[in-house]
Amino acid sequence: MPAHPPSPVPDFFYGTAWKEDRTPALVELAIRMGFRAIDTANQRRHYFEEGVGQGLAAAYRAGAVTRDDLFLQTKFTYQRGQDHRLPYDPEVSLSVQVAQSMASSLEHLATDHVESYVLHGPASNYDWTDADAEVWEAMRKERDSGRTRLLGVSNVSLEHLLQMSATHAELPAFVQNRCYARLGWDRAVRQFCRERNIIYQGFSLLTANQEVLHHPLIASLAASAKATPAQMVFSFARSVGILPLTGTSDAWHMKQDLASRELTLPIEEVHAIEFLAG
Ligand SMILES: NC(=O)c1ccc[n+]([C@@H]2O[C@H](COP(=O)([O-])OP(=O)(O)OC[C@H]3O[C@@H](n4cnc5c(N)ncnc54)[C@H](OP(=O)(O)O)[C@@H]3O)[C@@H](O)[C@H]2O)c1
Repeated sequence: MPAHPPSPVPDFFYGTAWKEDRTPALVELAIRMGFRAIDTANQRRHYFEEGVGQGLAAAYRAGAVTRDDLFLQTKFTYQRGQDHRLPYDPEVSLSVQVAQSMASSLEHLATDHVESYVLHGPASNYDWTDADAEVWEAMRKERDSGRTRLLGVSNVSLEHLLQMSATHAELPAFVQNRCYARLGWDRAVRQFCRERNIIYQGFSLLTANQEVLHHPLIASLAASAKATPAQMVFSFARSVGILPLTGTSDAWHMKQDLASRELTLPIEEVHAIEFLAG
């Protein structure tokens, strides 16, 4: 069991990857539209974390929210996932890299803590390695020092999680994975999470599942629910315990994505969607 008390986690995360110069304006817009959880990473290759901080500052200035209203999540990314714009000295130990990356994130986001700190991906695609064990212990120290409330891991397989649980007493509060319908929406990892009270965050719910989004069954269920196929997918995700992320850049889609929380699908429809592709 994760060694942290249950804490309020918003039920939809706004993702900030690939937004580059539009990051500040889109973060501010997402907050104005109602998102309260923001996902980023100290990985300049795919995220503009400093721009997230600028968007937050604009939202605070406008009086839309205060820092206490928000759930901020960022990530530690190994050098192999970065380009030349590193948030740490690659010559120092991994433990020190974690501390440097966290300090840089807090500066970008103009805060003294985040709500969640996530290992962006293990060092190996197959195993939970000694490097991961060192990084995880360093992340725990960041948590124990109050710089994050919760910890997570991302891009993990069931094998990673099994090896991680054999190595460490403490499991993550979150797993964040790309969720493929053809893999039963990451069924094995979701089951592991469910059994251990780990919150499963799913990304690429739309982009990785075009065959579901355009499936005639989804079209007909969406028409009877007066919803869009995208809303059906987000509502389905929540029904099976997936905390969804969206990376939309469109104000109307932000509104629709949040409105999917009002949609309740009958259990037969949930089952039908779960087994549509795998
Ligand atoms: N841990 C990791 O390694 C990792 C990897 C990838 C992503 N992430 C996180 O997850 C976040 C989301 O990524 P993602 O892959 O799910 O999303 P994404 O790639 O940002 O794309 C979402 C897509 O869905 C469309 N969309 C959203 N709502 C829609 C709606 N209601 N109707 C129709 N189309 C809609 C968007 O188009 P419009 O813009 O036109 O709405 C966009 O094309 C990222 O920003 C990042 O924070 C994490």
